[in-house]
This record gives sequence, C-alpha cells and structure tokens, in this order.
Amino acid sequence: MTRDRPQSIVVLTGAGISVESGLPTFRGADGLWEGHRVEEVASPDGFAREPLLVHRFYNLRRAALHQVEPNAAHLALARLEREWQGDFLLITQNVDDLHDRAGSQRLLHMHGELRRARCTHCGASSSWVTALSPQTACPSCVQTGGMRPDIVWFGEVPMHLEACFTALSQADLFVAIGTSVTVYPAAGFVSLVAARSETRTLELNQEATGNPLFHEVRLGRATETVPELVAELLA
Ligand code: OAD
Repeated sequence: MTRDRPQSIVVLTGAGISVESGLPTFRGADGLWEGHRVEEVASPDGFAREPLLVHRFYNLRRAALHQVEPNAAHLALARLEREWQGDFLLITQNVDDLHDRAGSQRLLHMHGELRRARCTHCGASSSWVTALSPQTACPSCVQTGGMRPDIVWFGEVPMHLEACFTALSQADLFVAIGTSVTVYPAAGFVSLVAARSETRTLELNQEATGNPLFHEVRLGRATETVPELVAELLA
C-alpha cells in the first residue's frame, strides 16, 4: 500500500475465494457451469422451462456446502472486520455461506444465498438447508409450487445495491478478491470507485483481470494473498 492509511474499506469477493475450500468457479474453460449452460440453470426462463433440473442443480450445490469449510482467506476477512477501526463492508457475489461461517457480519450477499429459499407467491424468504422441489410448501403462506432458490439469476436485479453503492461512494480502499469482475453491476464497482481520485483500488486474483482501473494487482492464491493483505492493513 503506497498511500495514506485508509479509513473505509470495501471488499468485493467472487468465486475465487472459495476455490481452495473446494467449490469451483463459474467460468470454466468449457464455458459451462458444472456441465450446464448458464442460462439453463441461472435464469428465470430456465426455471420456468425446467424447474426440476434447476432445483436439482441448486439442491446439489446446497448439499455440497456440508462438505466444505471456510479457508484462510475467509477467516482473514472476518478478522479484518473485527479488528479494523474504520468502516468496513464485505460484498460477496458468492452464494455459498463460507464468509458467514468464517464470522463475517458486515456482509452483503448481492447474488443471494444457497441456504435461503424464496416463495414466488408471497415473497417470503426463509433460511433453507434441505432440498427444494415443486412440491415444497412455503413456510409462510403454505402454498406449493412457488419455492425457488433465493438467488439472483441473470436478468434479475442484484440485492442490497443501495447499501453497496453508499459504501463504495465513501471507500478509501476497494479490494476485489477472486472475481473476474465480468458481471454487472459488480463490474461497474471498480469504475465507480476508480473515478474518485482518493480511492485506491486493489485486485487480488489468481489470474489478472487486465482491468486497467486497478491501481495494484497481486497475483496468487487467495489463502496466501488475503491473510498477507490483512496482516499489512492491521499492522
Ligand atoms: P468467475 O468464475 O468469473 O471468476 C473467478 C475468479 O477467481 C477468476 O478471476 C480466477 O482467476 C480467480 N481464482 C480462481 N482460483 C483462485 C484462487 N485460488 N485464489 C484467488 N483467485 C482465484 O467468478 P465470479 O467473478 O465470482 O453470478 O463470477 C461472478 C458472477 O458470475 C457469479 O456471482 C455468478 C456468475 O455467473 C450469478 O450467479 C448471478
């Protein structure tokens, strides 16, 4: 870090931070997401066409969360939140619960959460750890046929945007970790913060995104680069 000590930090994480816990990223070389075209399993149209396929896809991913644990990068960000004296917000695009389990609290899941389900009849969102199906009844309105993963699909509006933009507009340091920063609006976050001359932008990634708006890029595995950065910020 070459500038003055930041007061306000916003961190954006993506799938790369959970790779070393055993969860795959989205953009594999084959362009498929665990064997499926993204629009098949991550769009309202896909769900309307093949609800069973979409439920099966997310049921497997929800069940897989039982097999994984937060890694050193998740734990380091929870430590940063606990020990940092200034403002802090962690925004994640990840639908896994590894940041939550690591202890992060000032955390926004902008693409929703695998461990939540939403009723399309009444809109209620509930904590959910088991499988969903078209027969699942909503715990609030008791109707069946309306339960879906409480996840933001392509074409839907991400969650908590107002809180994200408020924090970004006040950040002195913006750190993007393990994200290809290709999906909007997260892709626009870096443009927004880089437009403010006082905000420093830092990318921690396995492979560089090539986005010229990052002032600094540190390449490597998140379990190494994130604890190093946190130790540096708290020193
Ligand atoms: P991507 O799969 O697009 O990018 C993952 C990033 O993680 C890449 O930049 C990799 O270089 C990096 N990476 C891989 N292993 C890593 C490691 N061990 N340490 C550090 N970095 C590593 O995932 P996201 O950017 O999260 O949206 O994708 C954004 C959104 O697109 C997702 O939230 C999802 C997806 O479609 C929705 O579901 C709406």
